[in-house]
Amino acid sequence: MSTPHPAGGLSGEALQAAAHRHLWLHFTRMSSYAAGEVPLIVRGSGQYVFDAHGKRYLDGLSGLFVSQIGHGRTEVAEAGARQASELAYFPLWSYAHPRAVELAERLAVLAPGELNRVFFTTSGSEAVESAWKLAKQYFKTIGQPGRYKVLSRDIAYHGTSMGALAITGLPDIKHPFEPMAPGGVRVPNTNFYRAPGFVADDWEAFGRWAADEIERAILREGPESVAAVFLEPVQNSGGCFPPPPGYFPRVREICDRYGVLLVSDEVICAFGRLGHYFGAQRYGYQPDIITFAKGVTSGYSPLGGMLVSDAVMEPFTTGAATFLHGVTFAGHPVSAAVALANLDVFEKEDLLGNVRANEGAFRATLGKLSDLPIVGEVRGDGYFYGIELVKDKASRETFDDGESERLLRGFLSPALFEAGLICRADDRGDPVIQLAPPLTCTQEHFDEMEQILREVLTRAWSQI
Ligand SMILES: Cc1ncc(COP(=O)(O)O)c(C=O)c1O
Repeated sequence: MSTPHPAGGLSGEALQAAAHRHLWLHFTRMSSYAAGEVPLIVRGSGQYVFDAHGKRYLDGLSGLFVSQIGHGRTEVAEAGARQASELAYFPLWSYAHPRAVELAERLAVLAPGELNRVFFTTSGSEAVESAWKLAKQYFKTIGQPGRYKVLSRDIAYHGTSMGALAITGLPDIKHPFEPMAPGGVRVPNTNFYRAPGFVADDWEAFGRWAADEIERAILREGPESVAAVFLEPVQNSGGCFPPPPGYFPRVREICDRYGVLLVSDEVICAFGRLGHYFGAQRYGYQPDIITFAKGVTSGYSPLGGMLVSDAVMEPFTTGAATFLHGVTFAGHPVSAAVALANLDVFEKEDLLGNVRANEGAFRATLGKLSDLPIVGEVRGDGYFYGIELVKDKASRETFDDGESERLLRGFLSPALFEAGLICRADDRGDPVIQLAPPLTCTQEHFDEMEQILREVLTRAWSQI
């Protein structure tokens, strides 16, 4: 028998039982909860979330790189509620509604260069999918129908829908869904910690080499077949690889040389994560398309989209030309209203300024962990960091699959959660712990993260 809670839902054991019986968690081994509780997060306030037992956790990952302004902002929630009362839904198929128009204009003003057109989606995968489809149709429309391939980096995650998955560079999450959509081509990522020997001592030379690998791939594939290059400003998967100096300007030159579109996948890196509205602004490059999601609403309602340059939009502005693509809930009025309210908070509280003022302190605080034998490297920018874990600091030897499994899934993930820190222990590349806290965090939160990590990583080392 289920126990109703005051709002008419389930509570306590009934909620656990229903979660075990009916809910399917994403990217999750469901068997791992067979004998234990499903972690139930029931409330958030500022930089913290609370579980069903009332225990508090520092949200060091902003949920999933989402909650830029933090939790429990009633003004943002109320903006959504007001919009739902006024106009809960209308599609962007042939119609517009005021909040989508206002948000599109506001994003175009914030975006770098001539990215003046916004095509909304509901998620990051849909944004990436849309950008690839747009690139394909754009080239067909301008008389270059052979261009359909997309280049992206090894280990980079660009989403899970079939197109986005073909762009994703993580073999393990692709195998079950083979065959992939044709056209995904991999280039090396910008992991300087594990750079090839001939550029391992020179960060700039490494950047030139990594960018030139994009040129080599374009030439190998045939420039007339390549539509776009998809890159994140800081590559998330594998553990926060910032771009080497000169990397993006050189990639831009290469794209221009071969007439290839540069897509900056900013599903994580936009909206303050790196101290700017867009990651491209931080590293000084001009994309043809920016894909975004997550932080645009800080998660108070789902939304994604792509910002498109005037030049890419141009062939679609006359005659019968139509981008033959759309989804029902894209640019949902409630999400658009919430995004506008979210951006108001950014402005009122100068959240970009907060990240820029404090990122040095965040880096320095996490950097203290480098004295631990298990910490190989602490890297990242803004409020976005990865801590690479190694078996041997001097040789940079990493853990084998079995060790990594025991260390990350068996020990670190549960131990960090138990210790009150939400973060990500990930082994899609080499084992890393990732942090991307709300942009409101200050020194006290950095210290809390460092202390919890120090204690848990010390225990992890003693168990290896
Ligand atoms: C760079 C990047 N692109 C795309 C996606 C997919 O976004 P979503 O999970 O909203 O579909 C993600 C998700 O984390 C991402 O990090």
